[in-house]
Order: sequence, then C-alpha cells, then structure tokens
Amino acid sequence: MDSPTQLDWEKLKAAAVEVSKHAYVPYSHFPVGAAALADDGRVLVGCNVENAAYGVVLCAECGVVSSLHATGGGRLTHFVCVNKDEEIIMPCGRCRQLLYEQGGPDLLLWTVSGVRTMSEVLPDAFGPEDLRHVSEGAPIE
Ligand code: THU
Repeated sequence: MDSPTQLDWEKLKAAAVEVSKHAYVPYSHFPVGAAALADDGRVLVGCNVENAAYGVVLCAECGVVSSLHATGGGRLTHFVCVNKDEEIIMPCGRCRQLLYEQGGPDLLLWTVSGVRTMSEVLPDAFGPEDLRHVSEGAPIE
C-alpha cells in the first residue's frame, strides 16, 4: 500500500482519539488511544486497560496488536497514539518492541517529531531474526 496522505494520517488519528474514550484508567487517569493501518487496509485500534495490580497494565498498543491477529493477521504499516488532549504521544519502550515485531523496521509512526520509521525510534532492535540466528538447524525444545 502506498504511503497515506495527510488526510489518511488524520483519519488514523481520529480512530485513536475515538478509542481513547473507552480506556479503563481508574489509577492513572491517563487514557491512551492507539490506531494502526495493516497492509491490507484494515484499521486496528486499542485503548489502555489498567488493573489494581498496577504492573499488569495493558497499554493501548497491546489492544492494537491483539486485534491485528484476532482479525486475520498481516503486517502493520502505519501507527499513531494519542493522549486525552488528542496530542500525539510516543509509544513506550516496551510497546515499540511489541510493534516492531508486527511492523518491522519500516513501520511508519506519527511521533512527537513527525513521521518516523520504527528503525529510527527503536534502532538496532532485537527481533525474531536474532533467535533464528542462533537456533539455525537446531530443534526448538
Ligand atoms: N500507556 C499506553 O497505553 N501506551 C504507551 O505507549 C504509554 C503508556 C498507558 C499505560 C498507563 O495506563 C498510562 O498510559 C500511564 O502510563
């Protein structure tokens, strides 16, 4: 799929804003909405879901990735996430890792410093290739 136009980015952001309204954030009061485009044109969305055991919070990106697989798989090509003021925020470090595996180094992210590639926001990422590299020819136990 070609790069989306500015209007398409705005549509993706609007989807993130919309889903952020469904966030479950009784502890941080910091709703996040995330939206991504898949390589077949599907739009996947997710919101953060917190828990009384604070450490088990699901970031909005977790919802996006789960939805990608739940609705047929594929690759993420474009991503954006927002706070409750509809401002662009950066995906946290853990979620950059999560997104990397689903979109690879060329995934485009609308960031606080404009549209950047995943390889710019998570350089020299660890990924599936690193596992294959050492287990080549070896059975997985
Ligand atoms: N959060 C996300 O959903 N995604 C991010 O990339 C950054 C942080 C959520 C987790 C928590 O519910 C709240 O924002 C405050 O950290």
